[in-house]
Amino acid sequence: MLQLAIVNGPNLNLLGTREPHIYGSKGFDDYIPELKQNFPSVAIQYFQSNVEGELINYLHSCIGKVQGIILNAGAYTHTSIALADAVSAINIPVIEMHISNVLAREDYRKTSFIASKCLGSISGLGLNGYALAVQHFISITP
Ligand code: DQA
Repeated sequence: MLQLAIVNGPNLNLLGTREPHIYGSKGFDDYIPELKQNFPSVAIQYFQSNVEGELINYLHSCIGKVQGIILNAGAYTHTSIALADAVSAINIPVIEMHISNVLAREDYRKTSFIASKCLGSISGLGLNGYALAVQHFISITP
């Protein structure tokens, strides 16, 4: 069975109430069960933390356990070389994920330290981006 991890960074625990005009009004408590139901052939682990080191520890813990990671690093995308190094270090394909279109927002969101370490990036397609990333991992799995 294909094993995937969805890893969300800071403030994504508040999705649903956080700036709904940007991120929408559905939270992960509702979305993750829906996603799992829509992909019954995939084992999806979910992890969220507001703490940079915890995200790095979790990425390390994925070694040997999952075949792909969908990583929404939140604002750490734009600041964290340590997280980018972790993505390089684990040798697991990672899809960079953003709910909003980061290129259409503030200039500081246009820099991603992790993008070049990732298989690809999805940005601006709302929560549906997570489903598209799962579909991509299914399509590249022999
Ligand atoms: C985000 C975009 C980031 O710039 C922001 O800091 C987030 C969420 C997104 O999903 O659109 O926390 O990663």
